[in-house]
Amino acid sequence: MAYIQNILVLIYCLATVYSGSIRHDNSSKVELEAYIKSKKNEINPRYRPHYHVSPPVGWMNDPNGFSYYNGEFHLFYQFYPYDSIWGPMHWGHVSSPDLVHWKQLPTALIPEAEMCFSGSAVVDGNTFTLIYTGREVIDEEPFYKESQFLAFSEDGINFHKYKGNPVLPSSDSADFRDPKVWKYRDNWYLILGSKTSDGRGKVVLYSSKDLKNWEFLSIIGESNGEMGYMWECPDFFELDGKFILLMSPQGMEPKGDRYKNTYQTGYIIGSFSYETYEFIPEVEFQELDFGHDFYASQTLEHNGKRYVVGWFSMWEVPHPEEIDGWAGALTIIRELKLSGNRIIMKPVDEMIKLRQNSIMHGSLLRNKALNLPKESELIINGDLNEDIELLIEGSMGGGKVWLRWDHEAGKVVVDRGSDDIRQVEWVPKKSHSWRIFLDASSLELFCGEGEVVFSSRIYPDGEWILSNLSPQSLLVEAYYLERGVPV
Ligand code: FRU
Repeated sequence: MAYIQNILVLIYCLATVYSGSIRHDNSSKVELEAYIKSKKNEINPRYRPHYHVSPPVGWMNDPNGFSYYNGEFHLFYQFYPYDSIWGPMHWGHVSSPDLVHWKQLPTALIPEAEMCFSGSAVVDGNTFTLIYTGREVIDEEPFYKESQFLAFSEDGINFHKYKGNPVLPSSDSADFRDPKVWKYRDNWYLILGSKTSDGRGKVVLYSSKDLKNWEFLSIIGESNGEMGYMWECPDFFELDGKFILLMSPQGMEPKGDRYKNTYQTGYIIGSFSYETYEFIPEVEFQELDFGHDFYASQTLEHNGKRYVVGWFSMWEVPHPEEIDGWAGALTIIRELKLSGNRIIMKPVDEMIKLRQNSIMHGSLLRNKALNLPKESELIINGDLNEDIELLIEGSMGGGKVWLRWDHEAGKVVVDRGSDDIRQVEWVPKKSHSWRIFLDASSLELFCGEGEVVFSSRIYPDGEWILSNLSPQSLLVEAYYLERGVPV
């Protein structure tokens, strides 16, 4: 990814220098919104999510600035409006009263000399502040530098960049990005992802009184060599009495069933002291989500709950929606809890608000099928002493996925065909159900209380058909869901 990003940055900067076309006044924002509006009409809706956030047009990657301001949740995202592939990064913006109904807002940040890479958002008094990585091209190797920038808003919609940017210049490594900021007592804290001089991922911690002057505190974590060459999008928070370092390492080698995606997202559980700034790991790195498409997740604490959202896609894999004029989505919002040595992840309670009519509540016999709309929720119960196999496929063909419970291996399997399999052991805590969310091009499977979760993109033609290929009949509850995002 870094290589592709560098080439694109270079092309973008040369093009803008030659055309003298960098414009950062309000008129460029107005023009951009007009462009988005007109381009939207050209989008092919077949794979467009009905309740997952996706870009109005163009490309999306990481969620950014997950926050709560003036009575609403806000989510930003890495956004390139002019093509459905990665390009000079903007920050797209949506807001929600309840984490399930999202409203599209004007693009929050537009790149100038700096591209607006990932970051976070905090509320400082009445000011809504974005802290993001500005990525700039330079003349010397490695031809880019990354430093931290601020942008402010007094209304939660219009943002202006701080004149004193950057507030935290890059230090020893050119890779110095994705700040996550939080407040503890009277201080602001910031962690960001970086790498050591010999190419191992690390996460560093800073503090500040005013968000503008930052002091280095410590290295929170570092790859031992097996944990990749770069740690992107770190997050650090307390969960049920422990500290969690959540991050997205690049460069981990696959190991059996694990680490099969291009890059990983996972966490280390440990303890931390605000006196010594030392994080002591207690449980090894574990993946947060076991599906094909989950990356660069970010959390938010609100009213005592810890929420998480991830990019519902992956680097360097096909994005079939690309030819339809858009690419990428965010997962539904999940709530995190600690359960022993693992994080469990549940859909937010508010997901129930999307339920419309019930499609079925009863027994789905062996080899029987059920037609489902593009946007549906399923709750499946079977006997875990026997195998379970579900086939979920397009009513008119296209993408399909098999979900299996292999009772002998004790594993849940998500199989997109052609050996494109993700699987992991599942030990149910209490509930034996599977809760499945289907949207026009995605599947999220939550096992039990959320001990095991898979997020995978699937591209069916038409609506969905669910077939029970198990050696047993299954109890199926199915709901049609209402729209949670704009058309
Ligand atoms: C992660 C990432 C971040 C970076 C952003 C650029 O997916 O590579 O490290 O800030 O995407 O779009």
